Amino acid sequence: MTKIGILTGGGDCPGLNPVIRAVVRKSINEGYEVIGIKNGWKGLIEKDTMALDLTAVSGILPKGGTILGTSRTNPYKKEGGLQSVKENYKNLGLDALIAVGGEDTLGVAAKLTKDGIPNIVGVPKTIDNDLSCTDYTFGFDTALNTATECIDKLHTTAESHHRIIVVEVMGRHAGWIAIEAGIAGGADIILIPELPVDIEEVCALIKRRHGRGKTFSIVVVAEGAKFKEGTMVTQEEKLDEFGHVRLGGIGERLGQEIEKRTGYETRVSVLGHIQRGGTPSAFDRILGTRFGVKAVELVKEKKFARMVALAGNKIIDVPIEQAVAALKTVDMDFYGIAKVFFG
Ligand code: F6P
Repeated sequence: MTKIGILTGGGDCPGLNPVIRAVVRKSINEGYEVIGIKNGWKGLIEKDTMALDLTAVSGILPKGGTILGTSRTNPYKKEGGLQSVKENYKNLGLDALIAVGGEDTLGVAAKLTKDGIPNIVGVPKTIDNDLSCTDYTFGFDTALNTATECIDKLHTTAESHHRIIVVEVMGRHAGWIAIEAGIAGGADIILIPELPVDIEEVCALIKRRHGRGKTFSIVVVAEGAKFKEGTMVTQEEKLDEFGHVRLGGIGERLGQEIEKRTGYETRVSVLGHIQRGGTPSAFDRILGTRFGVKAVELVKEKKFARMVALAGNKIIDVPIEQAVAALKTVDMDFYGIAKVFFG
C-alpha cells in the first residue's frame, strides 16, 4: 500500500487544516495510508509522527493553525539533520512526502529532492503570498480580510479623534498584505518593502489631505518596509535557521516621525500574529482543499519535485525549485492603482 507522509512547516496560517483533511480524504479514497509528521522538518529529524485517519481529520476544516504543529526547523542547519531525515523517511516506510510550507519549508524540500528524497510534492502556504509560480498561496486571503477589518475599525478612532493612525502589517519582504488590505480598507498612504519610504513625501501627502479639510489619515506600512536611507527596522538582529531577521517596529518609528514633522497627533497599531490566526476564509478553505487533492493526484501520477499552484482558476503543478528561486513581490502597476487614492 502506498504510504504518504505530510508535514506543515514555517509560520502557521489559516488553511493548513483544510489541506491536511483533503490529503487524508483523497488518499483514503485512493486506498493509500497517510501519516502526519509533527512540527515540520523537526518531526522528520526526530521521527515524531501521528496517525491520520478519518477520525483525526473530522471537524478540522474551519480550524485555524495546524493539527500537526509546526516549527521553523532547517534540517540542513542541524548536526546530523539531513541524515536523520533520510533515515526516518526510510524507516517510516514512506513512498512520498507532501511538504506544506512557504519559501523556507519548500526550499528544504527542493534541496531534499536532490539529496536522497526525490518523492516530494510541495503545497504553497503563507499569509505573505510571496511564493513564485502561484497566483495565490492559501492563508493570504484570510490574513488580508483580518487586516482589512482591523483597518475599518481603526478608521473609527482616527476619524473621531482627528488622528493619524499608522497600521503595521506583516508580509516579510513582500508588500502583498499591505497593498491589498490598504486598498480594501481605503488607506490614505500604503508603504511596501518594494519601494523605500520617503518620509518627506509621506508627510507632504498627509498635509495635502488635511489641507482639503480631512482631519485624520490611515497609513498602512508593511513590516519589511525600509526608510529611503536603507534602514530596515527589526525586533532583533539574531537570524533564524533560515537566515531571517525578526521584522517589526517600523510602524512606531514612522509614527514618531510623522507626529514630529506634521504636528498631528499620531497613534500606531501593530496587527502582528492576529493576521495569522483564526478560522480560514471560504477562499482559503477551498484553495487548501483543491491543493490537497491535487497533491495526492501528483503522488498517484508519480510526478515528484513539483509544487501545486493556482494559475487563474486552474490548479496546476510547477517545479518546486522554480517556485522558491525568487520571491514574488508587488509590481509597480498594482502600486500605481493604490497611489491614485493617496493623500
Ligand atoms: O511568514 C509569515 C510571517 O507571519 C511573516 O509575515 C512574519 O515576518 C513572520 O512570519 C513572523 O514569524 P514568527 O511568527 O516566527 O515571529
